[in-house]
Amino acid sequence: MDLPELVLRAHAAAADVAMPLTRDGTGPSCSLPGVGRFLAVLAAGCVGGTIGELGTGVGVGAAWMASAMPADCTLVTVELDQTRATAAHRVFADDPRVEVVRGDALTVLSTRAPYDLLFADGGTAEAPTLVDLLRIGGRIVSDDVTPLDLLPADSPFRTNDAKREFYFGEPRLISTEVVLPDRQNSLLVGTRVR
Ligand SMILES: C[S@@+](CC[C@H](N)C(=O)[O-])C[C@H]1O[C@@H](n2cnc3c(N)ncnc32)[C@H](O)[C@@H]1O
Repeated sequence: MDLPELVLRAHAAAADVAMPLTRDGTGPSCSLPGVGRFLAVLAAGCVGGTIGELGTGVGVGAAWMASAMPADCTLVTVELDQTRATAAHRVFADDPRVEVVRGDALTVLSTRAPYDLLFADGGTAEAPTLVDLLRIGGRIVSDDVTPLDLLPADSPFRTNDAKREFYFGEPRLISTEVVLPDRQNSLLVGTRVR
């Protein structure tokens, strides 16, 4: 499947700042295509809505969402790192619906709530306060999860995983884990119901 033009532009920006496209354990990496497509599916339904992203990177996930979201939807994405924020700024220079802000994601996004969709991908990804920022019916997504079947038998993540505990323990969310088509990675998604 072809990648949207904006995603290709974000991939080029990743190369410029040496941000890996896949998880290699050396530091922050860009969202995988399977995550991007999932985000695009949710973003496409945000008619007249607002999308927030914690941790822009260079804008790969944001590019997937911006490529799919309706014309009347806006997206604000926040990145702490100056170099990555500047690179992402360039990616979205032609799209007035997308705002890239350099700063602390939770601080900035708290001033723009409520959101129809939040991609929690940097900083305080598991904070219950994120649920406060969602509309009822709004969705929250986190990636960089390894499917349980692939975890070593002695992995501490089998019994102690902050991301899974947040999604499945937060009473205001109905959540599930989605294994990506690569079968190596999964994401968590929850809908705020109260
Ligand atoms: C996994 S990367 C983001 C990837 C990006 N969302 C994508 O779709 O390609 C995580 C990013 O979060 C940023 N970050 C970490 N803490 C943050 C915070 N408190 N506020 C904003 N960004 C933060 C890091 O600098 C890093 O660029």
